[in-house]
Amino acid sequence: MSPLQKVLLILTLLFLVSVDAKRKRYIKSPRVAVPFPIFGAFDQKNPFLGIKNTDFETDFKGEWEVINPDSGVSAMQITLMPTNKIIVYDATVYRTSRLRYPEGVPCVPYIDPNSKQQLEDCFAHAMEYDIETNQVRPLKVTVDPWCSSGGLAPDGTLISSGGWNDGSKSLRYIRDSCPDCDFRESIDALQEPRWYGTQQILANGEFIMIGGRRAFSYEFIPKEGQKSTKAYFFPFLYETSDLDENNLYPFTHLMPDENVFVFANNRSLLLNPNTNKIVRTFPVLTGGSRNYPASGSSALLPIRLDDDKATSLETIKVEVIICGGNTPDAFITAEGQKVYLPALQDCARMVITDPKPVWDTEVMPSRRTMGDALNLPDGQILLINGAKKGTAGWWDAEEPNLEPALYNPDKPKGQRFKVLNPSGIARMYHSTSALLPSGKIWVAGSNTHNTYRDVDKFPTETRVEAFYPPYLDPNLNNYRPQILQDSSDKNLRYKARFEIHFSVPSGGQITKNDIKITIYAPPFTTHGFSMNQRLVVLNSGNVAQAIKGIYKVGSMAPRFPGVAPPGYYILFVVHRGVPSQGMWDKNVVLVTPLFIMEMLSCSTSYC
Ligand SMILES: *[C@@H]1O[C@H](CO)[C@@H](O)[C@H](O)[C@H]1NC(C)=O
Repeated sequence: MSPLQKVLLILTLLFLVSVDAKRKRYIKSPRVAVPFPIFGAFDQKNPFLGIKNTDFETDFKGEWEVINPDSGVSAMQITLMPTNKIIVYDATVYRTSRLRYPEGVPCVPYIDPNSKQQLEDCFAHAMEYDIETNQVRPLKVTVDPWCSSGGLAPDGTLISSGGWNDGSKSLRYIRDSCPDCDFRESIDALQEPRWYGTQQILANGEFIMIGGRRAFSYEFIPKEGQKSTKAYFFPFLYETSDLDENNLYPFTHLMPDENVFVFANNRSLLLNPNTNKIVRTFPVLTGGSRNYPASGSSALLPIRLDDDKATSLETIKVEVIICGGNTPDAFITAEGQKVYLPALQDCARMVITDPKPVWDTEVMPSRRTMGDALNLPDGQILLINGAKKGTAGWWDAEEPNLEPALYNPDKPKGQRFKVLNPSGIARMYHSTSALLPSGKIWVAGSNTHNTYRDVDKFPTETRVEAFYPPYLDPNLNNYRPQILQDSSDKNLRYKARFEIHFSVPSGGQITKNDIKITIYAPPFTTHGFSMNQRLVVLNSGNVAQAIKGIYKVGSMAPRFPGVAPPGYYILFVVHRGVPSQGMWDKNVVLVTPLFIMEMLSCSTSYC
């Protein structure tokens, strides 16, 4: 080595060390001491974080209400939009629904596969459901979105990907609500056909699309108008596919370190979407198969930023829960012999971020396949819909599970479940549910047939119900916070403090140990999995009473996009287990400076 080379090498090393030190300082540094205008004291150490006062007691076991007797389209795939409309669609393959295109909207020509004749399809297979009025507006999809996936992009556009047949490589987009806003379709945008794949948002706000039937790969969703250029082979999907597959609609969750947790059948790993490397693998979850068509469900437990240990990227704890499913052969047994094997009755939790993670299994009150696992604003998880026997697939299940189960992850094992009041309507294959800003659960769909059946043991469902979880007990209304939207901050910026104003009818002294601020990312739900769903409990400070019954609380937005990727969130103030009406209405959006810049210059596909 020449002297000059030596000097250069030393300089380079010094530079790298200093960059690394800076990075570490950035990650490890305690919360920045920005003065907090109203309270001053936003405790650096905060000894009370995580120690919350107990929830208000309620014996209310929930209530059901039919809110639309015939919505027209059976809700197979849904997303709640920031416009307070739910985008709903099922499949064009049926060529029928209970909702026709309005006068003036041209029907869709198609070739009938049997007669080879050209026919016209005048039925809507998609709609926009207004959660305030319960009215619907037909939407148009022309290529088949059957068993597709989707997600809400950071700007509030629903991007839906894949499907069947002519729709299997398609992308579809919809955003604003106006009398003639409709889907924009990109027909051949994906590299591989993706039927039963999972679309996952990444920390940069873009989406990865993983798997699909016989698609042992993943790819990235391109900007609108462009095509995806590459599919990355992902042998894990091939390895976890058994006789019945049982690994479709893989469960995926974005991790704080920006890797993607992928669970398929009974195995799981962490995938780095930037380097395409498998970062680590996890223990096998025994007991049966968890993904389609065995169809268990999965959610992340709330990510607790109010935990005083969650001070750096490395110490934020992320725990996954997977519930139900069926045995590996349950689908073939149902298809072949019309024998419906009992669904699994266990849930298993694993701390993904633990250095030595293990699955911890517990028993559910009842068996469940094809259920949804929804994060509730108060931090509990609701298991709802599904069947007690059989699997996903047409005519492949029996014994609807009519009783939701409420799961409190914070209670000791054995005391976590509470069985709630049953619905009168079977919600099995192709059913869905969604948490609304009001805290109610929107429940719809269920079609166990290859067409719309009016008369059957399990008819095609177009009735929509609302379920009122226990926290909506009217006896709790006196404690229920109401966010004062006009004076509260709405644009949350990473690492930045913000302030929420709220009122509580009961008045009285409320401390920070009574209040949780939670933000909820509304998912895309289909086939028992709510893609991109997450609930983050923010770190919040002291509560001050301005005048009687009116309070202010300071809180801090997440510091890392892997904890909460950019986009729209519903923000709740939760008072000892009693949530406010959520605030979003096109307003609560977690933004990165970069994202704002993109919005301003309108250089992205989302403009
Ligand atoms: C995992 O799933 C595969 C495919 O269904 C099955 O063959 C295997 O026995 C399962 N492993 C365990 C440990 O349960």
